Amino acid sequence: MANIMLAPMEGVVDANMRNLLTTVGGIDTCVTEFIRITAQQLPERDLIKKVPELARGSVTSAGVPVVVQFLGSDPEMLAYHAQLAVKLGASAIDLNFGCPSKAVNKHRGGAALLGEPDTLFDIVKKVRDALPETVPLSAKMRLGIKDKNLALENASAIAEGGASSLVVHARTKIEGYRPPAHWQWIDKIRRAVDIKIIANGDIWNWQDYQQCRLVSGCEDVMIGRGLLADPSLALSIKQRLAGGEEAVFDWLDNLLLIEAYYVNVQQQLPPPFVPGRVKQWLNMMRVKNPHAQLLFDKMKQLKLLDEITYLLKSEIIQARQQREDRL
Ligand SMILES: Cc1cc2nc3c(=O)[nH]c(=O)nc-3n(C[C@H](O)[C@H](O)[C@H](O)COP(=O)(O)O)c2cc1C
Repeated sequence: MANIMLAPMEGVVDANMRNLLTTVGGIDTCVTEFIRITAQQLPERDLIKKVPELARGSVTSAGVPVVVQFLGSDPEMLAYHAQLAVKLGASAIDLNFGCPSKAVNKHRGGAALLGEPDTLFDIVKKVRDALPETVPLSAKMRLGIKDKNLALENASAIAEGGASSLVVHARTKIEGYRPPAHWQWIDKIRRAVDIKIIANGDIWNWQDYQQCRLVSGCEDVMIGRGLLADPSLALSIKQRLAGGEEAVFDWLDNLLLIEAYYVNVQQQLPPPFVPGRVKQWLNMMRVKNPHAQLLFDKMKQLKLLDEITYLLKSEIIQARQQREDRL
């Protein structure tokens, strides 16, 4: 069965978003935003705050498994926190070797390690040795820092270290998020290493999904921005794979998700930070959805929660009316 994973996205795909997107359907696994590990031990409450799913069997409210992702360069400290996460309820651990952020790379975290295959091996091995055999360990990498020269070596180091699967985001660090994603490189890696490879990068629709699988040769994929732009994408893909019709979400379906997200964010963040989170999602959705563009334009200047509540309620009434008119 071809699996679809929801990509980790720091500052975007938090527990609230994971719950909502997995409720729509089609997503088989989620990965948390990275948890950065430095020289200090994190208290248990920090892990639980970042991954509230730990307290309820490590699944989202829709029952979809959640993998805990760590980022750092110190093998001992990463192993300690991986063990701690498992003690708190984590059922799988992932290691981030792809983050391009300057702040993270300065401290040899994320993509910065793609120039050091030996360090990748040490980290994966230390973490693998620290975990019970029953807990899967995976990793996520980009193709390199400036070029792809070490892509195969890095993937082999991760495999030899003991990871059982590897997500490949098919771009180098300096390529950022610029298209295209080089899916043919995922195929090269898949042929070179003996662990499960999962393809990632630039899947925005059914055609991309098919093309990515064809070119990469991977059965499983991970999708990030495409699922934020169209929350029904994974469901649509699954329905098509089963020989059915594409699940078409109309604007009302999306609006109801946005409203639920907005209500939940108000429980998480102080009021001044709430509008930014909702606008952030709309900003990602407007890439594919003209309704989201219009709503984004209307919401852009609003700062007060009452104004946003009113705007969302009136949009929902209007979208409901439009749906009734169509039927
Ligand atoms: C805002 C943002 C935050 C991200 N945070 C993480 C992260 O915490 N961990 C990680 O491994 N990748 C992270 N990524 C990378 C994504 O998981 C994914 O590899 C990338 O977006 C390409 O996939 P896509 O084209 O389907 O979005 C992030 C990407 C974005 C745009």
